Amino acid sequence: MSGHKKIIIGNWKMHFTVKQAAAFATKFISKSVPADVLVGVTPNCLALSEVSGVLSKSAINVVSQNAYYEDEGAFTGEVSMPMLRGLADFVLVGHSERRHILRESNDYTREKCAAAFRSNIVPILCVGETLVERQNYHTNQVLNDQLSVGLADLTTEEVSKMIIAYEPVWAIGTGEYARPEDVEKAVAKIRAEVTSLYGVIAGASVKVLYGGSVTRENARSYLEINGVDGLLVGGASLSVATFWPIVEIAGAVSSVNKQKKKEA
Ligand code: 13P
Repeated sequence: MSGHKKIIIGNWKMHFTVKQAAAFATKFISKSVPADVLVGVTPNCLALSEVSGVLSKSAINVVSQNAYYEDEGAFTGEVSMPMLRGLADFVLVGHSERRHILRESNDYTREKCAAAFRSNIVPILCVGETLVERQNYHTNQVLNDQLSVGLADLTTEEVSKMIIAYEPVWAIGTGEYARPEDVEKAVAKIRAEVTSLYGVIAGASVKVLYGGSVTRENARSYLEINGVDGLLVGGASLSVATFWPIVEIAGAVSSVNKQKKKEA
């Protein structure tokens, strides 16, 4: 089962110039990150260096939105995992916008997860079904396929350390958010699949996030779900006023969970 610590990652997607991203990151320096919450922000690739400099003395982690799976070579336009070293602690892999707009396959995600670990960067593998897949009751099959292929080149130890984000595609950027009971089922399915592939310890240790139209109003309902370790936030991460309350809610939920654990 997941621990009390919560993870809140803001995915800035294709927003902010380098200057704007640095100025935005500056607003987080004075924020005190609640105990037992890991906060990350995800600038575009061009802004990674600047933002990681701005946040170097803060407790906020920097996440890359993407990277290619080869370490170096003739791959015009791509950035490699070794190039992220020292700039990002985590990398998103297989975000639905990369799968569905940029046509990244499950095989790509497999290569990228392995490449991330080669460079000591923790992958955040994003999985989730489209609306049509959901309407056809294919959610479990989609999650199985995305996980069995995406995780295939990893060791049990690596899987135990990584993060999986459940982001139903129909809930991303639509304002239509998943019902907590459906998220609970999908997250249980994800842990069961990891357990069947890599064993009980990996299934319990892997961190699982929810993402899709998360706001300060609905954040708590997801953070309180058994097995949900945190949130991947898109639109609401683009301003401090909408993002930081989510971080604070995560802090409150994790301290309640910590207390419960103590009493148990
Ligand atoms: P929204 O929160 O804007 O729906 O985006 C979710 C997402 O894609 C995070 O990676």
